Amino acid sequence: MIAVTGAASGIGAAVASALRTAGHRVIGVDLRDAEVCADLSTSDGRRAAIGGVLDRAPELDGLVLCAGVGPHVPDPMQIIEVNYRGAVEVLDGLFPALRGAAVAVSSSASTMVRWADNPISRGTEAAALADAGEFAGHLAYSWSKNAVTVAVRQRVAEWGAAGVRLNTVAPGAVDTPLLQAGLASRYGDAIRSYQPPIARHGTPEEVAALIVYLLGPHAGYIHGAQFAIDGGSDALMRPTEF
Ligand code: NAI
Repeated sequence: MIAVTGAASGIGAAVASALRTAGHRVIGVDLRDAEVCADLSTSDGRRAAIGGVLDRAPELDGLVLCAGVGPHVPDPMQIIEVNYRGAVEVLDGLFPALRGAAVAVSSSASTMVRWADNPISRGTEAAALADAGEFAGHLAYSWSKNAVTVAVRQRVAEWGAAGVRLNTVAPGAVDTPLLQAGLASRYGDAIRSYQPPIARHGTPEEVAALIVYLLGPHAGYIHGAQFAIDGGSDALMRPTEF
């Protein structure tokens, strides 16, 4: 049994579909159209999500954290609550039940800030966002994804000792409803003007294939890693940093 958050749309829906095609049973978690309907932007919702999954499967073969919102949503704190706390609290809440592996969907945006400069590292994100003006959504998104990647890396010893692997994928622009909403927002021109070396958007199915690989037995020595799946953007922008 594999739990997938954000299973109702985009990358999460593609992951759930690929896993079911491969013969796995999937517990989808989402706001709606899922086995467990819960709002990961609140503490109560996160507790309900964890409880709902454990009610259906006291032991899990895998966990995939896809639920997220983009930089365009009106309340930037919502971005941090869903993308960061909605990932990390579910990760920690389900860790005792996990027997296999977990993958969290971070983003290429995770590398746009250093952890030492990330207000989430000091718990000052609300104050920092109050001063951020028109860039608040963009900053909150980068901070939330940087914090998810750091949280995964910080868990590598404890999870490894328990025999549970944990990795992140960092997509660039992937053609999903989240990207379409971004294109329709004030960030649309910036998204359109950037072209990765592979000059197209990724597909949810391409990201799902990587996630399914990372969950599976052929990835048995991959732990604590972040995989860019971005058409070459990370190498283009940061050729000497890796
Ligand atoms: P999507 O909008 O198609 O799917 C996101 C899912 O998360 C939706 O089903 C939505 O209902 C769910 N969700 C949102 N808020 C929630 C909440 N409060 N509680 C429970 N579920 C909630 O978006 P997409 O593109 O599939 O995004 C999946 C992940 O990939 C997100 O974490 C996103 O940040 C990340 N990502 C997406 C990229 C893209 O270009 N599409 C690029 C890099 C990362």
